[in-house]
Amino acid sequence: MKKIRIGIIGGSGLYSPDFLKNTREEKIYTPFGAPSSNIIIGEIAGVEVAFLPRHGKKHEYPPHKVNYRANIWALKELGVERLISVSAVGSLREDYKPGDFVCTNQFIDMTKKREYTFYDGPVVAHVSMADPFCPELREICLNTAKELGITTHEKGTYVCIEGPRFSTRAESKLWRQFGADIVGMTLVPEVNLAREARMCFLNIAMVTDYDVWAEKPVTAHEVARVMAENTEKVKKLLTSLIPRIPVERKCQCARYLDEALI
Ligand code: ADE
Repeated sequence: MKKIRIGIIGGSGLYSPDFLKNTREEKIYTPFGAPSSNIIIGEIAGVEVAFLPRHGKKHEYPPHKVNYRANIWALKELGVERLISVSAVGSLREDYKPGDFVCTNQFIDMTKKREYTFYDGPVVAHVSMADPFCPELREICLNTAKELGITTHEKGTYVCIEGPRFSTRAESKLWRQFGADIVGMTLVPEVNLAREARMCFLNIAMVTDYDVWAEKPVTAHEVARVMAENTEKVKKLLTSLIPRIPVERKCQCARYLDEALI
């Protein structure tokens, strides 16, 4: 079977594969159970991609119930080497405004009970996470966003909380003291597992709200409203970005696992 080298995991606001042409579905079985949905394979600007809605087709899986291992395994099975994850986040700073995008470059893991690795023993792996995101994909994303006039912040530290609830005001202030710029619920363990699967990983974080360090508390409705506006922009960005991704990988992403296995 022909490999599908590029994968997209869509988050809140990017469930529909309507930006893809000539779509078909693949049901993939994994040792970890079923992924969030069948994988949708289609074309974007002439390039074949595999699309997976992280929360399921009807948003039936909350962040702590997403089967992250099955999702990454299924995409790997299809041949995915470059993975683009799209997620909704809250902002922890004034200048990252609702409607802006962030090309995440670091994360802080505050999740509590997820399945973090494919290497649960007897084979053990301690994979390096010093630089979690693919430098090649980040550069392509930032250049493309700039050309399209989509406000995208070059860097951002994403604090991943367990959810499904939002943060308290005290927590939100703590995330700011940690040096985090954005807060979300799904980056971890998607990013770690992708690295264990030798994939390049890009996170496009779409800011929907100011979380609760600012005066007004965040509501799920507010998140949904800004999200709808962001959806069109992210589809435009993906359509321009994907044909620019080279097949040959010059980055280190595929090799981290070699240094990780014990
Ligand atoms: N997703 C969107 N906004 C969020 C917030 N404020 N906290 C956590 N996850 C989010």
